[in-house]
Amino acid sequence: MSAVHGEGAQPHVPVMLAEVLEATQPGPGCVVVDGTFGAGGYTRAILQAGAEVIAIDRDPNAIAAGQELVAAEAGRLTLVAGRFSQMDAHVVALGRPSVDAVVLDLGVSSMQLDQAERGFSFRSDGPLDMRMEQAGPSAADVVNHLPQKDLTRVIGLLGEEKRASAVSRAIAERRKERPFTRTADLAALVEKVVKRPPRGRQIHPATRTFQALRIYVNGELNEVAEALGAAERVLRPGGRLVVVTFHSLEDRIVKRFFADRSRTRAGGSRHLPEEEVPPATFELIGRGARDPSEAEVEANPRARSAKLRAGARTEAPARDLDLSMLGVPRLAPLGDAGE
Ligand SMILES: C[S@@+](CC[C@H](N)C(=O)[O-])C[C@H]1O[C@@H](n2cnc3c(N)ncnc32)[C@H](O)[C@@H]1O
Repeated sequence: MSAVHGEGAQPHVPVMLAEVLEATQPGPGCVVVDGTFGAGGYTRAILQAGAEVIAIDRDPNAIAAGQELVAAEAGRLTLVAGRFSQMDAHVVALGRPSVDAVVLDLGVSSMQLDQAERGFSFRSDGPLDMRMEQAGPSAADVVNHLPQKDLTRVIGLLGEEKRASAVSRAIAERRKERPFTRTADLAALVEKVVKRPPRGRQIHPATRTFQALRIYVNGELNEVAEALGAAERVLRPGGRLVVVTFHSLEDRIVKRFFADRSRTRAGGSRHLPEEEVPPATFELIGRGARDPSEAEVEANPRARSAKLRAGARTEAPARDLDLSMLGVPRLAPLGDAGE
């Protein structure tokens, strides 16, 4: 996640900005989609490089805060309230058939994390909300209404929490007496079930459960996979797709997408004759993932888990997405958590 300023929080520090610009190569005459506007850190730098930007964010607060920049840029920045999974539709609606680059900086912003009333954080008490869009079922709805077995899958798969069954059992017992409404209340219950790790590994016991709920409430993994497909459809040949991820679940999706789309030979598969490998839609930029420099991690610890992957679009036609091949887990629909 980029560090983006909230009330009384640290100033905004976009993550891996130099590497993002190097991979994106924005310049005069280019149109770039910034799918995760946030506090506009990437967008500002891309505008400074001379490109036009179509920026998207699903958080109404980010859109409101960006209006000053829209006014200052006099037509070079268009800010869209919406989801990056639908970026191709947004771009076409703006009268553009294609774009030169797409950048994505996944996850939540510090602006979202640092404001207790958004309910993303177990460190400061707030309503159990976590909705980036500020609409639809909240984390409280999920915790209070999702069937226990579905809650176990969500916490286990999206939080990679080994004690998922014990956590969801404790939640199910407690909610019979009194529903959860606050982040601190849930964090305290999780802390009782998942003991503090021995000294050395200092992550809060509720970290994984909160990550799982956030990803589930916002459908984040489906969004990432769908966004890669949308970028494939909207990039011109030669156009660049640059993605910064912050945890292994989202990085796995991006890695598998690029591996699949850049494959030119059947490789190890004896099941797929050579001629049946569809033409590659991307050429990889760089080998594997790029990490932030040590100096960046030292200056901004929030950059430590970042990974950047990038590719350049070929002329081959876009393909259908296979969500299970990309590693997107199948979970109970979020609507099942509604009241
Ligand atoms: C890590 S921040 C981006 C920070 C930005 N790069 C900067 O430098 O200021 C991620 C932003 O993406 C937004 N976001 C997350 N998922 C989204 C989605 N599916 N569609 C649109 N915006 C999304 C969040 O609301 C948040 O503002």
